Amino acid sequence: MKPLVAGNWKMHFDRAGARALAGDLMRSLPAPLEAAEVAVFPPFTSLAEVAAALSGGDVTLGAQNFHPEDSGAFTGEVSLPMLLDVGVTRVLAGHSERRHVLLEDDAFVNRKVLAALKHDLLPILCVGEKLEEREAGKTAAVVERQVRAGLKGVPPERAGDVTLAYEPVWAIGTGLNATPKQAAEVHAQIRKLLVDLWKEGGRGVRILYGGSVKPENSRELLKTPEVNGLLVGGASLKADSFVRIVRAAG
Ligand code: PGA
Repeated sequence: MKPLVAGNWKMHFDRAGARALAGDLMRSLPAPLEAAEVAVFPPFTSLAEVAAALSGGDVTLGAQNFHPEDSGAFTGEVSLPMLLDVGVTRVLAGHSERRHVLLEDDAFVNRKVLAALKHDLLPILCVGEKLEEREAGKTAAVVERQVRAGLKGVPPERAGDVTLAYEPVWAIGTGLNATPKQAAEVHAQIRKLLVDLWKEGGRGVRILYGGSVKPENSRELLKTPEVNGLLVGGASLKADSFVRIVRAAG
């Protein structure tokens, strides 16, 4: 399966900055992209600009957040039809910052996954344990709960539209990535859960690793069994480091 390298720009860049980064990626990434799929997730205010900058290329556009309802009285929220309108094809659900800073729970994350699939958008369901959960030996239990709850009600025939991302919370933005052994352990567990849920269909689902991915560790992480791509935060904010990570995938 072709690895997916996804760049989560979080709350960075004004429109000019986002357009410049997208333009740099268009110039620096090989075209056509053969060895990997690449997606970027800019902030809402830059989605239209980035869509225009990426047009005609192979890099796809994602959104970091959305509300599961199509429209209504949800002040401050953005819906999936609005995102489709600007050319978004992928969405994140369950990112640790939304779970732990903005307090989205498993049930809400599940609504988001189901809503994305209803609109034929491709969700990336993020899961991962906090440091105290790892230290208390609860990693497997937390990951299992988040995977099962997040994917509740997703039928096996939609397995191919779903991507998982294992992002240990203690590794996000800390400079401290999971070791290949730690990643391999959790990715193997997630694969088992996916096969348990969706039988053969679960084998083709990508499981990304995220958390302090850098050019220096990306090759080793990508060689880890059951690591089918990377979700990159900080290192996706500069074309040079993001392109080096994409090249490591090829
Ligand atoms: P990081 O973020 O690469 O900066 O650790 C990853 C993420 O939050 O997806």
